[in-house]
Amino acid sequence: MRDRSIYAEPYRIKVVEKLNLTDRATREQRIKEVGYNVFNLKAEDVYIDLLTDSGCAAMSDNQWAGMMMGDESYAGCRNFYHLRDAIQDIFGYNYVVPTHQGRAAENVLMNTLNVKEGQRVLGNMHFDTTEGHILLRGAKPVNLVVKEGLDTTVKAPFKGNIDLERLEAEIKEYGKELIPFVLITVTCNNNGGQPVSMSNIRAVSDIAHSHGIPVFFDTARYAENCYFIKTREKGYENKSIKEIANEMFSYGDGCTMSSKKDALVNIGGFVAFKDNEDLYEKAVQIQICFEGFRTYGGLAGRDLEAIARGLYEGIEYDYLEDRIGQIAYLGDKMVEAGVPIQQPTGGHGIFIDAKRLFTHLPQSEFPAQALTVELYIEGGVRGVELGTCAFGHTDPETGEVIYPELECVRLAIPRRVYTDRHMDMVVETMKNIVARKDTVRGLKLVYEAPVMRHFTARFERL
Ligand code: F0G
Repeated sequence: MRDRSIYAEPYRIKVVEKLNLTDRATREQRIKEVGYNVFNLKAEDVYIDLLTDSGCAAMSDNQWAGMMMGDESYAGCRNFYHLRDAIQDIFGYNYVVPTHQGRAAENVLMNTLNVKEGQRVLGNMHFDTTEGHILLRGAKPVNLVVKEGLDTTVKAPFKGNIDLERLEAEIKEYGKELIPFVLITVTCNNNGGQPVSMSNIRAVSDIAHSHGIPVFFDTARYAENCYFIKTREKGYENKSIKEIANEMFSYGDGCTMSSKKDALVNIGGFVAFKDNEDLYEKAVQIQICFEGFRTYGGLAGRDLEAIARGLYEGIEYDYLEDRIGQIAYLGDKMVEAGVPIQQPTGGHGIFIDAKRLFTHLPQSEFPAQALTVELYIEGGVRGVELGTCAFGHTDPETGEVIYPELECVRLAIPRRVYTDRHMDMVVETMKNIVARKDTVRGLKLVYEAPVMRHFTARFERL
């Protein structure tokens, strides 16, 4: 990796967007008004928005130029073929089904594979919407990430790996009939954008396929995963990102993709199948009902073009080195400042361990949610809670509250949007919070929706 103190970003800025510099008193008032939930804030009241890395990338001049070449024909637009060719080239998957975003691709795939009641979908850690689609069909999402993946104090290179013993045990117990497919999420978003190694992917594929179970990838951040394989796994140091992607996807039967991440666009997604034409034709039926005709899938021709071009920009080594380098830069400074984070840093942001930071707050007082509130008040920084509010729940049988193992705040970094100066400002904000951490108060939940409560929950300060 190039030394970041000598090299700067491999791009320059041609268009800028004004940010509002709000003052602390205003932010105190705003966050109170919205029930201490940063999802309810107006984006213009935020200074540095690290809520997500999804759909908020800065597109390149090349992508914007491609947007002008959008062919808006209902059927057979040229941009679909550009996208299909890019996916065949990078993923090695022949059949491409565009969708309006990642969760729509999940819907198409789950319907195509007929996921139903009583089944189990195995994976490292399913993303929220994936989990939602599985639950909606009465099936059970099963997360089999390796143990160290859930311990922020252990440094390991591939904390997104699947625990092979648990995978074999699941397959032995439930078999092919109850396991419609295995889903490998690269990188593993929910525990820190942690990568999955090529050898783990190969082993998962061997095990699943030997029992006749198909393997799919959730590829939202596949290029970042390939970068980690290149830089952390022996034997891949001299391979290009595209060669690594080709090999990685060769172990699967297809994928879903949220193009809003590694394809560097603001909207879009797709499902792709390696070679199963029957599945593809079935998927198209569902696509036509929910998304649109097979060559546009809920997107404009110009959007398809931006994805086709973005896929290539997303696998450029210089881009990825800068991208992952920026996350590491932020992570290193956080560690220096005494902030407990998931280590090593992953692909799309840093994950602050609120349990280790606010040792005086029990999980029942929402320590990670409390930290999102402090980050906003202190510096106008918006992160997202991935802790008790997002993942905690009440056991329907016992009435007992089940707390998640990880109690984190994710600071997700949009692609090509913020400079290292912005990262420095985020670190300064955290330093000020660390200095007064023992005085930070917990929160009490005063409103929750029956599902996905983190988006709309309201709190009061204790
Ligand atoms: N899979 C993963 C791993 C994701 O991170 C996301 C979205 C999706 C699927 C769904 O894709 O948003 O295009 O429908 N993640 C965003 C996030 C929302 O903030 O992590 P989508």
